[in-house]
Amino acid sequence: MSDLLDHATTPSSPPATTPDPWWRQAVVYQVYPRSFADSNGDGTGDLPGITARVPHLVSLGVDAVWLSPFYPSALADGGYDVDDHRDVDPAIGTLEQFDEMVATLHAAGIKVVVDIVPNHSSNRHRWFRDALAAGPGSPERERYVFARGRGEHGELPPSDWTAVFGGPAWEPVGDGEWYLHTFAPEQPDWNWDHPEVREDFLTTLRFWADRGVDGFRVDVAHALVKDMSSPLPSAAELAADDLPDGAHRFWDRDEVHEVYRAWRAVFDEYDPPRTAVAEAWVATHRRARYASPEGLGQAFNFDLLRSDFDAASFRRIVEENLRLAAESGTSSTWVLSNHDVVRHVSRYGLPDGMDEADRARWLLSGGTDPAPDLERGARRARAATAFLLALPGSAYLYQGEELGLPEVADLDAAVLQDPTWLRSGHVDKGRDGCRVPLPWTAEGPSHGFGPGPSHLPQPSWFAAHAADVQDRDPRSTLSAYREALAWRRRLRTGEELVFEDAPEGVVRFRRPGGWTCVTNFTTRAVPLPPGRVVLSSGAPADELDGELPGETTVWLLPAD
Ligand code: GLC
Repeated sequence: MSDLLDHATTPSSPPATTPDPWWRQAVVYQVYPRSFADSNGDGTGDLPGITARVPHLVSLGVDAVWLSPFYPSALADGGYDVDDHRDVDPAIGTLEQFDEMVATLHAAGIKVVVDIVPNHSSNRHRWFRDALAAGPGSPERERYVFARGRGEHGELPPSDWTAVFGGPAWEPVGDGEWYLHTFAPEQPDWNWDHPEVREDFLTTLRFWADRGVDGFRVDVAHALVKDMSSPLPSAAELAADDLPDGAHRFWDRDEVHEVYRAWRAVFDEYDPPRTAVAEAWVATHRRARYASPEGLGQAFNFDLLRSDFDAASFRRIVEENLRLAAESGTSSTWVLSNHDVVRHVSRYGLPDGMDEADRARWLLSGGTDPAPDLERGARRARAATAFLLALPGSAYLYQGEELGLPEVADLDAAVLQDPTWLRSGHVDKGRDGCRVPLPWTAEGPSHGFGPGPSHLPQPSWFAAHAADVQDRDPRSTLSAYREALAWRRRLRTGEELVFEDAPEGVVRFRRPGGWTCVTNFTTRAVPLPPGRVVLSSGAPADELDGELPGETTVWLLPAD
């Protein structure tokens, strides 16, 4: 292997090292704690479970983990309904166990990113309970977004706005006032004009940074600040296509960046400065504001996640996002799956051109109409992942994608936990199908997830995807991820990328050190460009015989 390495580190290119700062080209692995590993058999994944599985993360070769919320919560929205931002849910562990987990990850050279949920709390948060008890007009209510209802007794909602999960965005509290919840009714929105709310989040950031957390993933970062001045516009007015940038009453308002400038000051109190990545579902040209060095520093780019497996589209997305990242002094991010979307093996196995609404209908059919071609989905998923991992910037991986897990599309309605199911009036089954606990072993009560059954049932076909089965198989998806991450680590030198000529339906780009990544998005084989194949998302390099098969990615070092 060392002779291959020599090719990657020619005198004209610096030796492969982890670039500074660490996050610019990190591979970040998302852990959804309740579904990762259960140490005590209560059916819910927990912090000791994560600590015990650190060897898996080490053998995978990730640079950081991002933990979805592990805070006390009634789980009205999978933990994104937070009762207390500065504690651990007793079902998941304790603060001491959090410290042990961080220490174990750090000892293994893995950074820790935690989820911060600043748009809303849960309705069990102390300040929300105080607000309800204190009544209309009280200072306690000012920390949230309360408004008097319309009608003589306030019996009608202040506006006709709808919540993201469906149903009205206002909930009455029985005294003529209503509170705003952009998401579920159990998730009252904070009033970000209130200095105590702002101060409290700074305290929360310091709390976790002091415990050694390296960075933050900021939930719905484009919400938070709202313009609630009267009269409130109607939902139709809010949805108008010609609404100027920043003019929406609660999404992507310019004032939100004041909040993040204050957060940046806190991040910079630490050495090294703490990092952040914004979850901001905004127009591509608005993303840079969240990712700027004075703000959160980085923002998720969901463009690949929303694209078909298509050469022109992938190339355009890469060009656009690298340009935008360079303009705002950050590095780009790349995502194919997370806890909110249908897993990419399934997406790529479904017909091209399906959107979110189509996929919701597909889930409603139990994943049968249309029937996905999962073999093809897995092939394309591996090719897309190898493409993504060859790009400069940060790669965000979602737990289970290294096992090639498809969506569990046939969960019985009775077991669904996602509020989307109820709130949509039972037309959208929601996101549980990508949150089914991981299969670690082919055998065992919950395929090694824990000593007992898991909180969402695993299908029997999970056995074939179990980590212990794949561990022994050099052709498994797990082995492919490990290999790709190991090569990425060795080849990572700079952030430049140059596209090279390629046949129709093929994307080829060169990286510093002269290595190239070539993806054949078509179903026909094309001639392999010159070079030595070190990584193939499909058939092993020595079986390629001068051809790049369809729906396959290879990485090549310069020819001898
Ligand atoms: C984000 C999270 C999602 C959650 C929502 C409300 O989009 O990723 O899981 O439901 O915010 O907090």
